Amino acid sequence: MYKGLIDKLASRAELSHDEYLTLIRNRDEIRDYASALARAARHQYYGDRIYIRGLIEFTNYCKNNCYYCGIRAGNSNVDRYRLMPEDIIACADVGYDLGFRTFVLQGGEDSFYTDTILARIVSSIRKNHADCAITLSLGERSRKSYQILREAGADRYLLRHETCSKTHYETLHPDSMSFERRIQCICDLKELGYQVGVGFMVGSPNQTEKHLAEELLFLKKLKPHMVGIGPFIPHKDTPFRDESGGTSELTTFLLSLIRLTLPEVLLPATTALGTIDPLGRENGIRAGANVLMPNLSPVDVRKKYMLYDNKICTGEEAAQCITCLKNRVRTTGCEIVTDRGDYTDVPCH
Ligand code: SAM
Ligand code: FES
Repeated sequence: MYKGLIDKLASRAELSHDEYLTLIRNRDEIRDYASALARAARHQYYGDRIYIRGLIEFTNYCKNNCYYCGIRAGNSNVDRYRLMPEDIIACADVGYDLGFRTFVLQGGEDSFYTDTILARIVSSIRKNHADCAITLSLGERSRKSYQILREAGADRYLLRHETCSKTHYETLHPDSMSFERRIQCICDLKELGYQVGVGFMVGSPNQTEKHLAEELLFLKKLKPHMVGIGPFIPHKDTPFRDESGGTSELTTFLLSLIRLTLPEVLLPATTALGTIDPLGRENGIRAGANVLMPNLSPVDVRKKYMLYDNKICTGEEAAQCITCLKNRVRTTGCEIVTDRGDYTDVPCH
C-alpha cells in the first residue's frame, strides 16, 4: 500500500494530506523504496551532478530574536563580526579559483548593510565573475530593496518560510515577527524574477507529523526553485536550549518526499544534517538531494556563525572542504561539478 503511494507521487499525481501523513508515519517501511525513486527522479533532471554553492557568512549581527537561532540579537555570548565589502568580494575570488560558480551571501538582518553597500558588493562580484550565479540570504527586506539587489545582479534568494502554519510560526518567533510578512517577502522575490529557495527545520519545537504533511502540500502549491531543509539543532544560548532536535532519518525521508513531489527542485543536503550525523550529507544525496553548500567564509570567523551547537566544518579552509566533499560525494555514485547549477524543468535523461 505504501509502495502504491510512492508510485503515485513518482507519477506526478498529487497526494492528499492524509496520504502524505500515512507515508510519514510509516516511513521506516518505505524509506528505501522512496529514496530509490527519488534518485531516479533527480537523475531525470540533473543526472548524477551535485552542485556546490560557496557560502559566505558575512555578518552574525541580527536584529531578530528567533527562539531557535544561535545568533539571535538577545544572545550576548556571541562574538559579533562583519566582513567588509572587499573581504566578501575576495572570498568570492578565492571560491572562483576553487571551482565555485555560485556564491551565497548569507547573514543576519544587519542594517549596516544598506541597499547601496549590498548593491556595490553584488555588482562587483557580478563584474568579476560574469559566469557565476549570486544568491542572497539576508532575511526580510522591502520589495524595493529586493528589486535594487536584483538589478545589481543577484539571481537567487534563499528565505526559508520556517513553517507553513501561522500558529506554529508564532511559537518559533517573537511578536515582532510576522508569518504574513515572511510569506509576502517570498511572493515579492518570486515576482521580481529571483530563483527562490524556501524551507524549514525538521523537528523544530511544536512541529507535528501533520505539520510536515502540510509542508509538502505547501511546497507543491508554491513550486519554489529550491528547498532547504535541515534538522533543528538546539543552541545552548537560546530559549530552545532544552528542546530535542530533529533526526537524520526523518530529514532524509522528507528529502525523498520533496524530490518526488517537486522532481526538478534544487535540494541541498545541509550542513545541519552533516552535523547530527557523520554521514548525513551522503545519506541526503542518496535520498535525492543534489546541492551542497560548503563554507567559503574566512576561517577566523567561522566559529562565530554558530546557528546551533557543534556545527561542522568550522576549522577547515575551503580548499580542504572541497577535497573532503568530493570524496564523500563519490561514495554515493554522484559527482561534484563546476557549474552554476541553475534550476531546470527540462528533463535531460
Ligand atoms: N537571516 C537570514 C534568514 O532569516 O533567512 C539567513 C540566516 S538564518 C540563520 C538561516 C537559517 O538557519 C534559518 O532560516 C533557519 O532555518 C536556520 N537555523 C537557525 N537556527 C537553527 C537551528 N538552531 N538549527 C537548525 N537550523 C537553524
Ligand atoms: Fe536572525 Fe537568526 S535570528 S539570523
